[in-house]
Formats: sequence, structure tokens, C-alpha cells
Amino acid sequence: MTDSNLLIRLQGIGKIFQADEVTTHALSDINLDIYEKEYLAITGASGCGKSTLLSILGLLDFPTSGNYQINGISVEDWDINQKAELRCKEIGFVFQSFNLIANLSIFENVQLPLIYREDLDKNEVNDRVLSALEEVNMAHRKDHWPHQLSGGQQQRIAVARAIVGKPSLLLADEPTGNLDSKNGEDVMQLLDDLNKNGTTICMVTHDPRFAQFAHREIQLVDGKIRNEKSNHKSSVDTPNRVLEATKSLSSLEEAVVEEE
Ligand SMILES: Nc1ncnc2c1ncn2[C@@H]1O[C@H](COP(=O)(O)OP(=O)(O)OP(=O)(O)O)[C@@H](O)[C@H]1O
Ligand SMILES: [Mg+2]
Repeated sequence: MTDSNLLIRLQGIGKIFQADEVTTHALSDINLDIYEKEYLAITGASGCGKSTLLSILGLLDFPTSGNYQINGISVEDWDINQKAELRCKEIGFVFQSFNLIANLSIFENVQLPLIYREDLDKNEVNDRVLSALEEVNMAHRKDHWPHQLSGGQQQRIAVARAIVGKPSLLLADEPTGNLDSKNGEDVMQLLDDLNKNGTTICMVTHDPRFAQFAHREIQLVDGKIRNEKSNHKSSVDTPNRVLEATKSLSSLEEAVVEEE
């Protein structure tokens, strides 16, 4: 990949939470480049800083040290309105705890990211909300309230709300954490399709099966990047090629033994 399609650059990012007497170093010295159309998985044990990192990437929180650039521009130079506009138009966020608004209907919850979008008229907003709900098979629940839905259904609504604005960057915090395997696979398929259509995705997951969907996986340990591995097709193919090579080697050995 070249620098021309570099979307995000994190340099020396740290995050310290100071609450009363307790200081928590949630992130330390995170250096990470994310490219346009990339699909990145972020893994690691509970408390290692995954949600904190995603919140910083989504401009929902700020780092206490380091530099964060999007398209070559330092985020710290932007004012609150510029950040809000970028978040509103370009970034979709699936929260680990869903964050559905209790006194809004399902339709209104999904509509939320579109209410400041002056480029969309009422019909377009309506169509977008319904199609986002259809994507997660929840259109039939549009007039319900969040408390009337199961945890898994609320999670699917949270995914619909994140994709309704057709964001170029989708940040998903455990988007399958509350789903059964069928619904989990459906959401993963949806993310995969979005990525194939050009959406850059950063997904936090505990599930190694789902991390495989990503092009690249970074593992956090105690707020630092410990491991990074690529899941590109070529490396996915490697075990098969090794297996084929091993098979040919054993048939060669058998032939040698027979000759002897
Ligand atoms: N608002 C906050 N105030 C104080 N400490 C916080 C705050 N948010 C997170 N932390 C601390 O920062 C660390 C990282 O938290 P974070 O939520 O990023 O972990 P995580 O990897 O997402 O964990 P999980 O897998 O359980 O969701 C934890 O020690 C947590 O207690
Ligand atoms: Mg978390």
C-alpha cells in the first residue's frame, strides 16, 4: 500500500484516565496506519484498551498524548464543529453497549445520524432508514421501543444505525458480541459486503473466527500493540499449499522406499 491511500495515522497515541486517586494508562504509544478500504480487526483481553482506541478513532474521545491524522490532517487542529461534521458524514459507530435511546422508537434511533444531514430530503431519509433496517432483518420492528427488543435485536439496530449514513469509515465494537451464530454470521457478511464496496472497517472482536474476516489483525496487550498479523488471501492459502507440498513429499518418499 502507498501513502496516497493512507486514511488514518496514529503516532505515539496514549490515553490516561484520571478518576479521583486512580490513574489508568488505557493506551500507550500506539502507532498505527489504516488505509482506505482496509478491514482491520482489533483483538485482546478485556480491559486492554480496545474500546478506548475505537472511541479515539471515532473522534468520540481524545488522546492524552500523541498525534492522530485523518487524510494527512491533524485532528487536534479541528474545532468541535469540524469533528462533528466529519463524524456525522463519514463515520459510523457500533457501540459495545448499543447506546440506543430509550424514548425513541427503533425507526427514530436508526434515523439519528441523518437528522443533521441537509443533503438528504425526508423521502431519502425514510428510504435509507428502512433499507438499513432491512439489511439487519429488523424492518418489522421499526415502530417498537428499544426495551421491547432482545439484546441481539438491539445489537442489530445498533448496526443499522451505524450504516444508515453510508459512512466511509465504520468502527464496530464487538458487533456480534450478543448475537447467536446465525445472526453473527449475517452481520459479518454485511460488514464484508460493505468493505468490498469500499467502506474502511475497524472491528473489535473477541472471536478469532470473525477476526479472520479482516485483512489485518492487531492484538492489544495492556494498552500497547503486541502483535500484528496479515490475513491476506495469500497467507490464508498458505496452509493448503503446505499441505499439498507435504502430500507430494510423502508420495515421493513412498516411491523411494518402493524402489529400494
Ligand atoms: N471513562 C473511563 N474512566 C476511567 N477508566 C476508564 C474509562 N474508560 C476505560 N477505562 C479503563 O481503561 C482501560 C481500558 O478500557 P477499555 O474499555 O478500552 O477496554 P476493552 O479492551 O474495550 O475491554 P472489554 O473487552 O472488556 O470491552 C480499563 O482498565 C478501563 O477500566
Ligand atoms: Mg470494550
